[in-house]
Amino acid sequence: MTGELSPIDKAKFVAAKRAAEFVEDGMRVGLGTGSTAAWLVRCLGDMVEKDGLKIKGVPTSARTAELARDVGIDVISLDEAKWLDLTIDGADEFDGELNLIKGGGGALLQEKIVATASDQMVVIADLGKQVERLGAFPLPVEIIPFGWQTTKTIIEEALVSMDVLGRNTTLRMNGSVPYITDEGNHILDLHLGRIGNARQMSFVLNQVPGVVENGLFIDICDQVVIGHGDGRVEIRDINAGTVEVDRLDFVEDDNLFTDLMD
Ligand code: A5P
Repeated sequence: MTGELSPIDKAKFVAAKRAAEFVEDGMRVGLGTGSTAAWLVRCLGDMVEKDGLKIKGVPTSARTAELARDVGIDVISLDEAKWLDLTIDGADEFDGELNLIKGGGGALLQEKIVATASDQMVVIADLGKQVERLGAFPLPVEIIPFGWQTTKTIIEEALVSMDVLGRNTTLRMNGSVPYITDEGNHILDLHLGRIGNARQMSFVLNQVPGVVENGLFIDICDQVVIGHGDGRVEIRDINAGTVEVDRLDFVEDDNLFTDLMD
């Protein structure tokens, strides 16, 4: 089974597997969205089934909720949980200060609410997500459908005075129709190339009336777990200023993947 996984998938898996070790009995855990977070949910499901781990999971999207239930995690809403011990999620980009771009999978709004309502946020990623400066990945901005073209124009006008390399904005599509988020909104992708001041960008975007939220996560993430295709894992903690290197011997363990992929 391991032979069928690409190095990127192996990297995502080991990051998720290592981050799952942060989860303890009795925790309320925010469950991220995306391919890396899906590994995490499968790992946690495995721990629930085999180790009797007792947790409550708060998903950040309908698809994560479905997967979490499928693997046997007790799913509750954020309102039921009220506050979370830990959220583990993927990211589209992270920089040296662990500021992030998220929302490539369209779930940035619930992801940001859930991560903000957590004592700790841990990002799981492969090394390809690391950047010197945020912005090569198009920045997702969730906007309400009403007057979306006007909102797009106002955002483009606001970008004129911002320190960016590009200013093209596109409405995310799902085939021939606009993409609809779990909250019934649209997403504008901002092709900025490089964001000179991410904090200012986030603030300016959220001042536009039709904008619900943007995909910049500033000062939210506490740790990043970076997986490598050979099983190495690097854990960076921005608060403690520590870097830990670990290795998961997963290559020999075919059953692990087979079980999780079933
Ligand atoms: C979902 O909306 C995103 O924020 C994802 O967390 C992000 O796109 C990372 O996804 P992958 O783990 O699939 O790369």
